[in-house]
Amino acid sequence: MRVAVPHPAPLSGTTYSPVELAPGNDRVVMLDQRELPQREEYCELVTHGDVARAIGDMVVRGAPAIGISAAYGMVLAARTASGEFSRAMAEAGAEIAVARPTAVNLAWAVARMLEVVAGIAGRPAAERVEVLAAAARAIHRADADANREMGRIGAERVPDGATILTHCNAGALATGAYGTALGVIRAAHAAGKRIRVLADETRPYLQGARLTAWELARDGIDVTVITDNAAASFFGAGAIDLAVVGADRIAGNGDVANKIGTYGVACLCHLHERPFYVAAPWSTVDEDCPTGASIPIEQRSPREVTHVGSVQLVPDGVAVQNPSFDVTPARLVRAIFTERGAIEPVGPAAVARRSPRHGR
Ligand code: MRU
Repeated sequence: MRVAVPHPAPLSGTTYSPVELAPGNDRVVMLDQRELPQREEYCELVTHGDVARAIGDMVVRGAPAIGISAAYGMVLAARTASGEFSRAMAEAGAEIAVARPTAVNLAWAVARMLEVVAGIAGRPAAERVEVLAAAARAIHRADADANREMGRIGAERVPDGATILTHCNAGALATGAYGTALGVIRAAHAAGKRIRVLADETRPYLQGARLTAWELARDGIDVTVITDNAAASFFGAGAIDLAVVGADRIAGNGDVANKIGTYGVACLCHLHERPFYVAAPWSTVDEDCPTGASIPIEQRSPREVTHVGSVQLVPDGVAVQNPSFDVTPARLVRAIFTERGAIEPVGPAAVARRSPRHGR
């Protein structure tokens, strides 16, 4: 169902969240990111199946935001669970977790919620919903807090006067609030640094042109959209000082999966001796995935490439491939900013050093 209510929070990336659980714990409200920047519309979702579909259809996108949505989807599942509670919840979790394969935050959030489920199976139904809603809101709050912390850590590496390239949208729209890569940018801006952002438009889905430009412009941060294939010439002209991007999954050796085109940005940084930074919460680190080669890459519909809106660009019958993510090898990443500190030099030892499994 579509509702045209304005979001109660101010539309600033510093506080803004693209997904909320309604106060009665009976609906998930999502900003429909497919409509931006033309329209600001919200979807109301009442079942966990609605949430899984909304994730698959990109109503909500961005690794942390889909993780938070998954957690809220599990609350809706608890409201309608019939039969054996733990089994019903495991089935709902499995349905949500497969909605998009690359962002590990989705499976991570479902696993967190199932841990809570394991402790409340014998409680009355209404109480189970309350407990799960509190757990999901805590995941949401923790993500917003993590972004502020990694933003603070990353902003220290941003020189005054820097021109920063970013790819895709790793902002408030993609997270619980504030953003990861855009959190670094927001924190540098808030610290009084005069920065300029170049946003890759990010073919084929145009998250940079539609979403990054939308939220940075609303926050009064100097942003210029460039086509993806213009980035090399800006580097060649010495016009870019650093790049910062988000991540969908970080392997145990520090390889980073992120939006298709990110690897190219990292190669350009390497060639032009500019730092390439990644900002991501620990929920994006998958220590069970040894290298980037084991990260599943989502293949999306060819239609995202063949069409822009209803306009067809590619002749009928021509083959198209649309991998949605690529993997940047750890050696091209100068540092990964997390809420647990910077991972640097990027590699298995530094990942393990920051890991909660191994202590700080
Ligand atoms: O396909 P999307 O829009 O979900 O891809 C999003 C990205 O690649 C982001 O850079 C990543 O999820 C990090 S968001 C903080």
